[in-house]
Amino acid sequence: MKLILDLDTGIDDAFALAYALASPEVELIGVTGTYGNVTVADGVRNTRALLALFGRPDIPVYPGPSPEGWAVAEISAFIHGANGLGGVELPAPVAPPAGSAVDFLIDAVRTHPDLVIVPTGASTSIAAAVQDDHFAEHARIVMMGGALTVPGNVRPWAEANVWQDPEATDEVFRRAHHVTMIGLDVTLKTLLTSSDVASWREQGTEVGEVLAALADYYIGAYSTTAPHLGGCGLHDPLAVAVAIDPSLVTCLALPMQVDVAGETRGRTIGDLSRQGPMVNVAVDVDVERFLGAFMTRLTRLAANT
Ligand code: BDR
Ligand code: CA
Repeated sequence: MKLILDLDTGIDDAFALAYALASPEVELIGVTGTYGNVTVADGVRNTRALLALFGRPDIPVYPGPSPEGWAVAEISAFIHGANGLGGVELPAPVAPPAGSAVDFLIDAVRTHPDLVIVPTGASTSIAAAVQDDHFAEHARIVMMGGALTVPGNVRPWAEANVWQDPEATDEVFRRAHHVTMIGLDVTLKTLLTSSDVASWREQGTEVGEVLAALADYYIGAYSTTAPHLGGCGLHDPLAVAVAIDPSLVTCLALPMQVDVAGETRGRTIGDLSRQGPMVNVAVDVDVERFLGAFMTRLTRLAANT
């Protein structure tokens, strides 16, 4: 299958990228850059630096749109570090990034019938792409975002990615025909702990050391913001894993909406009175099988790159 990731890179976005590159089932044809954990420019820089580290500098990265004057929230900078990579410094990419994210997304859906798109940040680029009727009807989207049966993580009702641009996620739910929502309902069940990280470091490679340093930072941040979890949430890599193997999750099909006004702004909720496409909302996950695949794949990447 072909894959596009729409990332706000970000530590768990970095793990999502690593998971995709370590998956033999997947051909990653490009990455689009959105915002959330970092600005579009910093996310694109991080993605390109990681692609170079992982031995795939050939994969193009397309910057997406972001609102004028948008700035990183304090909580995002705390969880992912000011540079998005927990202070891990990678060599800056030299060549300029590729062209428009939205054009690339629309063209790719026309060209590749076996394509899946995995957005893991603000929905702004995907909302622009769903204005294209062919994209809206044919794009297969497995998005990390939202919370149906559990509270939000940045507001009582709102998950971080949806909170960045609630109108955009609502537009995606309203127009796109094939959306799976991988929200906090499942991603907070899939946790990485300090003991898992040792196997990457033991590889004695640069990739193993970077993956371990990213995880150390992220687990440390979670131990302050959500100590009851005992680890950090593998939000974005779970969405990639489900794109490859949908049987990892159990879903409810619902017409979904995002509240865009009032104190529940950013809430993702079913609305049975809404006409339009159903969204597959993941409500349970095979934790053991996912964590096994995650560790196997990232350890292989650490060993072989
Ligand atoms: C989501 O928000 C970001 O901080 C993470 O990268 C993930 O995509 C979790 O709510
Ligand atoms: Ca993300």
